[in-house]
Amino acid sequence: MHEATWSRADAEAILESSERRRRQDPERLWRRVGLKAGDIVLDVGAGSGFYAFPAADLVGPEGHVYAVDVSKDLVELVREKADSRKVRNLEPVLSTPRRIPLEDAAADVALLANVLHGIPPATVRETVRLLRPGGRLVDVDWQKRSTPEGPPVRHRLGVLEATRALRSYGLARVDAFDLGPSHYVLVFERPRPSHLPGRLISAE
Ligand SMILES: C[S@@+](CC[C@H](N)C(=O)[O-])C[C@H]1O[C@@H](n2cnc3c(N)ncnc32)[C@H](O)[C@@H]1O
Repeated sequence: MHEATWSRADAEAILESSERRRRQDPERLWRRVGLKAGDIVLDVGAGSGFYAFPAADLVGPEGHVYAVDVSKDLVELVREKADSRKVRNLEPVLSTPRRIPLEDAAADVALLANVLHGIPPATVRETVRLLRPGGRLVDVDWQKRSTPEGPPVRHRLGVLEATRALRSYGLARVDAFDLGPSHYVLVFERPRPSHLPGRLISAE
């Protein structure tokens, strides 16, 4: 595991660079996964809100975005940005690696962007707990080859490794595509229960 808690300075220098926006287009991601008005989104390891703010635009006033992070600095940064832009449907949430303080099955869509290689299994379990049955988990990750920026290649997860890891939480892969020159995206669904618990119901 190689993920660290990020500071404001890291976020402003790396996560908010205009070069990054050209390479990983958040609006393109959300449109491709079919995010729609009214959806409830959970962005785990949201950082500066690079993906969370565009999601808040798309889900609109009927929807909601939880921008979850373990960094107090970044939760505060996202809160300040939301206040100054008057974004009312985006809620910063301070978590710990083992606990995201939200109710079960709260989200239609959960995002793990550039974090899966570094977060512990407990955080992934929490993410899955918060996804409703039939909801989708979107994993955006670095291609496992040298790219102009990003973590060392040895720390990255390839498509097969990430797929295997996320399937082990009971998720089913439903889509895969590239996002810009350096990232792939995997989309998983949390299966719905296939049947109700067996109990004979009288016709009377
Ligand atoms: C590489 S940044 C990615 C930020 C954002 N997803 C993006 O792509 O712009 C990783 C973020 O995950 C946060 N983080 C690290 N471990 C975490 C955990 N266990 N749970 C939630 N957030 C975590 C860090 O504080 C940091 O903000």
